[in-house]
This record gives sequence, C-alpha cells and structure tokens, in this order.
Amino acid sequence: MSVRLAPSILAADFAALGACIAAAERGGADLIHVDVMDGHFVPNLTVGPPVVRSVRQVARVPIDVHLMIEDPDRFIPAFAEAGAAFISVHVEVLPHLHRTIGLIKSLGLKAGVALNPSTPVGSIEEVAADVDFVLVMTVNPGFGGQTYIPRSTSKVRAMRALLDEAGNPAPIEVDGGIDESTIADVVLAGAEWIVAGSSIFGSGDAEAAARSLKARAVAAAQERLAAHRSAR
Ligand code: DX5
Ligand code: ZN
Repeated sequence: MSVRLAPSILAADFAALGACIAAAERGGADLIHVDVMDGHFVPNLTVGPPVVRSVRQVARVPIDVHLMIEDPDRFIPAFAEAGAAFISVHVEVLPHLHRTIGLIKSLGLKAGVALNPSTPVGSIEEVAADVDFVLVMTVNPGFGGQTYIPRSTSKVRAMRALLDEAGNPAPIEVDGGIDESTIADVVLAGAEWIVAGSSIFGSGDAEAAARSLKARAVAAAQERLAAHRSAR
C-alpha cells in the first residue's frame, strides 16, 4: 500500500493560499484536497472551479476535488477543465452513480465515490469494481475541525474487504478529524490516502505538521504490511 497525504485547504489562510500549499508540499503533501460545498448537500459554502484553477497554477502535486454538492454531474466538466486530477462524488446524491463514475473517467480523471458516516459500505457494492478510489468520511461533511468518529475505523476495514472481494486495488481515502492521535489507526485499518485540514494548516507550522503526519502514516503502513506478510 502506498500512503498519500492530502492536506485540505479548507483550514488554510485563503489570502496566503500559495504559501500554505508550498509549505504543505515541503512537508511531504502528495495531493492537495479541495472541499467544494454548495450550502444544500452540506450546510456550508466554499469554493468552485476558479479556485481550483488558481491552486493548479501553484501546486506541484495533483489536485483532489471533493464535491459535497447536489447534482455534481452539472459541474464535473468545469472542475476537470480547471485542472482537477481526482474527483470524488457523494453516493447519497446520485441515483445514477455508475453513470457519474463513467463521466469523470471519460474526461481523463480518476473517479472516487464518497460515503457519509451513516451510509453503509454496501451502498457501493455494485460499483466496487469501477471506482478508482473510495472516500470514507470520518466526520459528517460540512466543516473542518470536527472530531473523528471512532466507528470509522471498522468501516475502513469493511470497505477494504469489499474492494478486495471485487478484485479492485483502489485506495481508500479518509477525511475528517485526522491528526496525530487518529492517523495510525486508519492506516492500520487500510486507509491509504489521508486528508488532513486543521491538523496541518491550523497548527502554525504546516510544513512540520505535514512531515510528522506523513511519517506516522508511512510507519503505520509498514506495520500493516509486515502484519499481512507474517499472517501469510
Ligand atoms: C469536511 C471536509 C474535510 C475537512 C477536513 O467536510 O470534507 O476535507 O477539510 O478537515 P479536518 O481535517 O480539520 O477535519
Ligand atoms: Zn474533504
């Protein structure tokens, strides 16, 4: 498994976004996570394609766009055009999830499906072979700085089993409440892409915080690998 750290700019200083992104990248960021909220699916508003376009111009790593919006199909082409490399959409808003995954892929991007904490793992069973990644929300989406929901750890494990069963090595991304005290548990459970907002940009030293989180995640991934090898 390969760990990727995805700092969420939601917790960054938007007046100094370029500097925040550069600091996170020096600390080992592998993706930049952009949270798009519409005030309908979640009770908050954030940013759209123009910000993704600006981030694309300064970021050296790929942009990971998390769409917390109703009717994402309407906006996916604009986010693709703005420079997103990865787009995740919420299963809760999509009666035609299979079609949306196809739309994202048809634009040359990697397609992810995101699940709220109350949404069962089985809700993606029929598309488990089609997704490029799965985003397991570890808080209720809408705000940064919330507390990790402990049940998420077993959900990540169950999601890994479902993807393995489908023969899909697609990584699991986790998002919400990830910090020094929770990161090892989610990685040991099978998460590979780690979103972190407040614990990086709220820390006062984004570079150091990213470096430390990444080191913990890499160590936990090695521990998981070693445990799997000795179980064989
Ligand atoms: C929450 C967003 C997250 C958020 C995470 O709705 O999807 O990406 O930025 O923030 P922290 O890491 O502060 O929980
Ligand atoms: Zn997010």
